[in-house]
Amino acid sequence: MVDVEIGGQHVHGAHPSILNVINQRKNIKEKLSGIKHRIGVYSAKGGVGKTTVAINMAYTLSSMGYKVGLLDADIDTPNVMLFLGKKDVVDPVYPLKPMDVMGVRAISTGMYVDDEKKPIIWRGPMVGKMIREFFENTEWGDLDYLILDLPPGTSDAPLSIMQLLELDGIVLVTTPQKTAATNAVRSGLMAKRLGVALLGVVETMSFDKTSGGSEVAEALGVEVLGRIKHNKKFDVYSDSGKVPVLEDNDIREEFLSIINRLHIPGVR
Ligand SMILES: Nc1ncnc2c1ncn2[C@@H]1O[C@H](COP(=O)(O)OP(=O)(O)OP(=O)(O)O)[C@@H](O)[C@H]1O
Ligand SMILES: [Mg+2]
Repeated sequence: MVDVEIGGQHVHGAHPSILNVINQRKNIKEKLSGIKHRIGVYSAKGGVGKTTVAINMAYTLSSMGYKVGLLDADIDTPNVMLFLGKKDVVDPVYPLKPMDVMGVRAISTGMYVDDEKKPIIWRGPMVGKMIREFFENTEWGDLDYLILDLPPGTSDAPLSIMQLLELDGIVLVTTPQKTAATNAVRSGLMAKRLGVALLGVVETMSFDKTSGGSEVAEALGVEVLGRIKHNKKFDVYSDSGKVPVLEDNDIREEFLSIINRLHIPGVR
């Protein structure tokens, strides 16, 4: 057993394997030192709109004049580049370089997989390794914000990211549906347990006043950052590689309001 300092606190009698995690965190922290803020977009439930929220938050911030990076951390089903209409496959040359897509620096494991029809299957230890490699070997340069599209689930992949990276916090995504809200609460509790701040909830695919967002906010004691109405145009835009907030004023207003409500602990 070892004595270690974690987050400024002295921990007596920790398992020695914690030293690995601490070293990895330190390496990654140095690697990402040019990035002012790191925000994860997360829900344990699939298909609730995480990728859509991550992409549109990133482009809203970029259109406000910030330097923004977008990391597709969903290594099983990486969709960010598909949503942005980028299907080019590149050879992984180290250090990895994000691709400039309409002013946002984006990177995804999807860029390095040669056949979009093949399933991507990572075993447990590979997940952690892959994610670490991504963080340790990507050259972001200076950024105001890095938005991370986190994978669904509460297992290896999201867990590794929350452990390895010092996130400013996560934005939870839910739909109005009860099941989605229950899973978003579960996601928030997992993040809290790992010491990751909850920045608020976005309810998406909203119809009317019924609201999974309020339920999540109440259960976790966080704010509803905003509601994105159910809008069939989201599918049309993503299928044609267009970014909704750059195309549609109503959607842009919804995301601007979310960004304006976003408070990063210790910043403003
Ligand atoms: N507000 C909305 N109104 C209607 N459709 C939407 C809305 N937001 C997202 N969608 C659509 O819902 C589907 C799922 O969205 P998205 O891929 O962003 O979810 P996800 O949580 O990232 O899914 P996964 O867990 O598979 O990564 C997509 O087809 C997207 O275009
Ligand atoms: Mg997704």
